[in-house]
Amino acid sequence: MKLSNILIKLLPVIFIITIIGSGIAVSQVKKAGDEALGTKKYDDFEKPEVCGASCHVDFYQQWKQAMMSQAYTHHWDEIEYFKLAVPHAEKDPKVAGVKAGCNGCHSPIAFMAGDVPPPKPEANSRANESVSCDVCHTITGFAGDTPFNFNFISEPGRVKYGPREAASSPAHETKYSEFHKSADFCGVCHNEKDPYGIWVKSTHLEWKEGPYSKEGVPCQKCHMTFAKSHNASMGPELPDVAQHLFHGAHDPGKVRGVVELRIHPDNRDVDPGESVKFTVALFNQKTGHKFPTGSAEERMLWLHVEATDAKGTVYHLPVDKKGFPGEEYTIAANTLAYQDMGIALNQPDFKGVQRDGVPEGDRIFRLPYLDPQGRMTIQQWNTASQSTDYRIGPRETKMETFTWTVPTAAAPGPMKVKAVLNYQKLPTPIVEFLGVPKDEAEIIEVNFHETNININQ
Ligand code: HEC
Ligand code: HEC
Ligand code: HEC
Ligand code: HEC
Repeated sequence: MKLSNILIKLLPVIFIITIIGSGIAVSQVKKAGDEALGTKKYDDFEKPEVCGASCHVDFYQQWKQAMMSQAYTHHWDEIEYFKLAVPHAEKDPKVAGVKAGCNGCHSPIAFMAGDVPPPKPEANSRANESVSCDVCHTITGFAGDTPFNFNFISEPGRVKYGPREAASSPAHETKYSEFHKSADFCGVCHNEKDPYGIWVKSTHLEWKEGPYSKEGVPCQKCHMTFAKSHNASMGPELPDVAQHLFHGAHDPGKVRGVVELRIHPDNRDVDPGESVKFTVALFNQKTGHKFPTGSAEERMLWLHVEATDAKGTVYHLPVDKKGFPGEEYTIAANTLAYQDMGIALNQPDFKGVQRDGVPEGDRIFRLPYLDPQGRMTIQQWNTASQSTDYRIGPRETKMETFTWTVPTAAAPGPMKVKAVLNYQKLPTPIVEFLGVPKDEAEIIEVNFHETNININQ
């Protein structure tokens, strides 16, 4: 028999062996999402200080200032995880998985090392590294068709994966990764499905159905902006180096100006006691996803309209109702919510705290998250349904009207009417109740616009 014939006869056998072999390799290396729990060691990953010591000084300092390096240690993350999520997970089998799962995104190396729950931030353990350089630069892809719930494939080692072909480094090997230039890469942590099967974070999915994905503008273009600079201290100058800014809701400069406002009346000469309708147009010119996005369960975005008459008296105008289902959640009210925090806090009869903490009658652009009893919740892991999504989509314009009867006592002369759009990361009543440092409740003025009417004698 000729050698080639032997080989041909052996081909199916070689084929089968290869398949079995790669099957084993896949199941060993490519555990992703929940299955990656405890599959690695802390020591498999390089410390960020090693990357930043002399080679990637700028990226290290940028990352250090970004939320990425604080995803485990930031005050509110620590409070929500240790005070609410962990105790809740220990009591309710339905959400037991989040005790480990929160850190699949917030401290991936702790999760992969099977450290559940990791030591508190004050212990200064390696869990504090949060989303580190080596987490991202040893990701080689994701499992399944949709990136979500930390389903990235992690292959730590000497090879670092990055966006540049023909990159070389004295410290490690490099491999080109198309994946790092894609929005899917970000989606592995910026889409989240909770134990009830609800999308409780969908920044990547919102982007995907919006205009920017169609125009080929991935997340990196707005959150890792490209500059003429160096990607390593000793490297040459390059025209388009991805800056590790990751600036988002925690950067007031990123939030200001996201939406443009214009307000106009339907009549400029008004008698006291007469009614006038103001229309506000709100155009989302800046985000690549909805606004607010991400932790939408706790973000506040609200429109406040005030009139000031010639004598300086100020009147607050409540928004006109539109009549859509669930609208009650989008108009600020004096009502209690977030009762499900009582589970973790051992207060079964907990009455809740003020839902909004902003002036009654203001329009709130939000996606209400509802617990299994149908009450509003900020505990995304305890979300069994959501109400109407009333956030502002990328490049969407929303129109709001304010029909108002000018008080008979209003001073004659010019009257200023101002519309202000405000933003807050966490409602003030929750910040106060849980003792979260005040900066989490900082109010950022996104934008404003003013118009004038005349009050007749
Ligand atoms: C391994 C998981 C992971 C990956 C991959 C990831 N992120 Fe994040 N990202 C996080 C976590 C966790 C936080 C939250 C930090 C915190 O606790 O507030 C975060 C925070 C951010 C923030 C700051 C948000 C704020 O409130 O200020 C931005 C912006 C951001 N990521 C953008 C991106 C982009 C763009 C990509 C893709 C290039 C990406 N992320 C990839 C996990 C990840
Ligand atoms: C959240 C994930 C994430 C983290 C954390 C992260 N990077 Fe990156 N990095 C990326 C992505 C994504 C790109 C490619 C962006 C692109 O080109 O679209 C990148 C690009 C780079 C590049 C190549 C830049 C260029 O344009 O040539 C280097 C070098 C780099 N990162 C080093 C680091 C170092 C060092 C750290 C830690 C201080 C770090 N990265 C942290 C995701 C991350
Ligand atoms: C066209 C520019 C643009 C694109 C594209 C874009 N973003 Fe943003 N993003 C913004 C702006 C502006 C903000 C600040 C306003 C806000 O918080 O939504 C923001 C905010 C965020 C935040 C903070 C949300 C919060 O409340 O904590 C995260 C996280 C984020 N983006 C991630 C992403 C991811 C992931 C992608 C890709 C799937 C992406 N962005 C695409 C402009 C963009
Ligand atoms: C699929 C990834 C993922 C999982 C799982 C996840 N998070 Fe996050 N988390 C993020 C990202 C990304 C952000 C930041 C950007 C945003 O708001 O979308 C974030 C933000 C936060 C914030 C900060 C909000 C702020 O105002 O600064 C807290 C607190 C938080 N997460 C707690 C938790 C807890 C507790 C769990 C588990 C019950 C959890 N996360 C599970 C990805 C995740």
